[in-house]
Amino acid sequence: MAKSSTSSRNRPSPLTNNDGCLYMGGAVFAFLLVWCLWSYAGPADSGGGNSFMPRVFSDIGCTRPAPNLRFDPPDSTFYDDPELRYSIEKKVTGWDEKRKEWLKRHPTFAAGAKDRVVMVTGSQPNPCRNPIGDHLLLRAFKNKVDYCRIHGYDVFYNNVLLHPRMKSYWAKLPVVKAAMLAHPEAEWIWWVDSDALITDMEYKLPLDRYNYKGHNLVVHGWSKMIYEEKSWTSLNAGVFLIRNCQWSMDFIDVWANMGPISPDYKKWGVIQRSVFKDKLFPESDDQSALIYLLFKDRKLTDKIYLEGEYYFEGYWVEIVPTYANITEKYTAMEREDGTLRRRHAEKVSEQYAAFREPHLKDAGNGRWSWRRPFITHFTGCQPCSGDHNQIYAGESCWSGMVKALNFADNQVLRKYGFMHPDLLDSNTVTETPFDYPDEGPW
Ligand SMILES: *[C@@H]1O[C@H](CO)[C@@H](O)[C@H](O)[C@H]1NC(C)=O
Repeated sequence: MAKSSTSSRNRPSPLTNNDGCLYMGGAVFAFLLVWCLWSYAGPADSGGGNSFMPRVFSDIGCTRPAPNLRFDPPDSTFYDDPELRYSIEKKVTGWDEKRKEWLKRHPTFAAGAKDRVVMVTGSQPNPCRNPIGDHLLLRAFKNKVDYCRIHGYDVFYNNVLLHPRMKSYWAKLPVVKAAMLAHPEAEWIWWVDSDALITDMEYKLPLDRYNYKGHNLVVHGWSKMIYEEKSWTSLNAGVFLIRNCQWSMDFIDVWANMGPISPDYKKWGVIQRSVFKDKLFPESDDQSALIYLLFKDRKLTDKIYLEGEYYFEGYWVEIVPTYANITEKYTAMEREDGTLRRRHAEKVSEQYAAFREPHLKDAGNGRWSWRRPFITHFTGCQPCSGDHNQIYAGESCWSGMVKALNFADNQVLRKYGFMHPDLLDSNTVTETPFDYPDEGPW
């Protein structure tokens, strides 16, 4: 595709013979440009399917307008408003219009904005107390970088408190808000806790599902547990997808105001414990706060999608023991289908994910499924401090993380020609033979 567009640009065009034709050429070019932009703004199928758009482009010989990183016109935007503040304590208003205006002035970013995701994650500013904490955090971040590179997402790692009182689990809200302002080109900000690992490098966020009814916040959760069991673990706030819009600005405001910046912080802790009987610690936390908001106003589920159809994030204790069987299933499917065995550039990985999809028809999703779990979340492990929940032996936390990291890394390293034969042995890789894993002596 890139080749054909370069050659057509270099070829002398018959349309440039005289002024009239030059104009025509301009019109044709403008049409093609509009067509390209339109195609990109149009509906895109997520879930790995990408057969429609590339064909359109190669047929008419135009490429996606690359985001122009050196173009910022002098027209004033929300950035020039001295009243606009990034702080979690200041409201942002009129954000939808402001973002839209910015996109209008940056047309190469407007194309494709609807599908653009920025992953945001981070950890504390200081070294970890757990001796292997920083090592695990580094590998956990590498895991996210790998995923983002494969799917063309940007990623931002923050390791400073943006608000001194918004500590530990509250620290993410100021970061997410700041990321929304820093990334008007992105429709979604995807917060992923540092201890949440992507264990299906092929899976794509099904954004269409969330666009369908205009949901603005997606979390892994179960409505029965919120409204009937009233449990503080009825959803997990460690991974969420939030739309870059005014609704989200307002919601973050309400949510953050149950945290340490609120004069009623203490009171919120008491209220949360009185509603969620299984919550054992006294301080108001971001997860209980979110559940409380949903519990108080059920209509919020019009905007907040409780994802339960796949492992948007999942509990490591139930997931880690399934890696071995899942690996076997995937290996069997590759033995069966030569297309899946074909070596390819990492850049076109999404195409091979789409090729695999028919084989996963009966795999199911989430619990009991043999599809690779999308995100394995090491909740309760606290890899950095090492203060893991006493119900787990520390060793099972760390060895579980190593397994998850190598399980994910194998999916990446495959494109580089190598694999870890043993998920617990991070040091050893073997070169994958041509046509691996067709029947052979390995
Ligand atoms: C893995 O597969 C075997 C054989 O089908 C089964 O007995 C076992 O329970 C499975 N293990 C897990 C953790 O699912």
